[in-house]
Amino acid sequence: MVVKTLFNSSVPRAVEAMGDTTAVLEQFTTQWSVWRFLGSYLPTPNARRFERVMRGLDEFIYGLIAERRAGGKDAGDLLSMLLLAKDDDGNGMSDPQLRDELTTLMVAGLDTTALALSWAFYLLSKNPQADGELEAELDSVLGGRAPRFADLPQLRYTEKVVKETMRLFPPAWVIGREAVNDCEIGGHGIAAGTSLIISPWLKHRDGRHFENPEAFQPKRWTDEFTKQLPRYAYFPFGGGPRICIGNAFAMMEATLVLAIVRQKFRLTSLPSRTVTPWPTITLQPKEGIYLKVESGEGKARPAKQETI
Ligand code: HEM
Repeated sequence: MVVKTLFNSSVPRAVEAMGDTTAVLEQFTTQWSVWRFLGSYLPTPNARRFERVMRGLDEFIYGLIAERRAGGKDAGDLLSMLLLAKDDDGNGMSDPQLRDELTTLMVAGLDTTALALSWAFYLLSKNPQADGELEAELDSVLGGRAPRFADLPQLRYTEKVVKETMRLFPPAWVIGREAVNDCEIGGHGIAAGTSLIISPWLKHRDGRHFENPEAFQPKRWTDEFTKQLPRYAYFPFGGGPRICIGNAFAMMEATLVLAIVRQKFRLTSLPSRTVTPWPTITLQPKEGIYLKVESGEGKARPAKQETI
């Protein structure tokens, strides 16, 4: 979806190039530890996989840029906007600059939204009551037809499921900042140049702001609740000038995909499978998430609420 909407490119080629982006994400994370950082300079299997994936991504992106430059047409998508953009001196972006922008958008927009959806289905499979409320909303708003953009304002509970999922399992579980000047935060002196790590995972489970913080309760997201919540008690998309640029796009995409999939299928948990959150640069399920998929119609729902 990211590739289609941002670059209007054919999906199969992109899927080929991006098939192994988790290798890129893993490499970012492993680079955080000193030993692994040293290891990243050695031709380990991981480092070679990383090189291979990056070569594939570069080939795909540089290919798109060359095609578009040669065609010279405004396709009305983000790639065309970037190609047409000029700085104050009238200069456009170089190919490496465009490559950096496009790669960031692809990597930032792919895994994050997919993870939000994966965790949502996992949480729904563990919480039959919430799953039932979601099903009821989809039935009453859509009555079996596919959702459209115009339905979003009515899909209130569906959106709450996405919000509550990202509270408990924020795909970007840490966000980094660097202090520009010496400053003080919460009584701690911070020297200029210090790296700071802020964790939505921790803040989102703070009992001062969220009653019963470990429980999956989409219905807590009433307008009144949202209004009284301190600004950075909930920040799955970060904040300030660097806030996620795909924020609104991701909410729209996740809400619609959740509605479409849940409308057609019931996904129930498999007790034999464990799911362990795995904090790479994004929050992955370590062993994947395995669920039983059944046609959504006419299935009895287990009444018990499981713990997560
Ligand atoms: C559920 C889905 C997503 C989540 C949870 C998410 C989360 C984030 C977070 C936490 C940041 C860092 C913000 C900060 O430092 O304050 C970020 C940055 C960014 N995101 Fe997302 N994101 C999502 C989807 C997307 C999508 C769909 C796109 C593009 C289509 C995208 C593009 C970007 C870009 C380009 C940045 C860098 C912005 C900058 O540094 O100025 N994201 N995202």
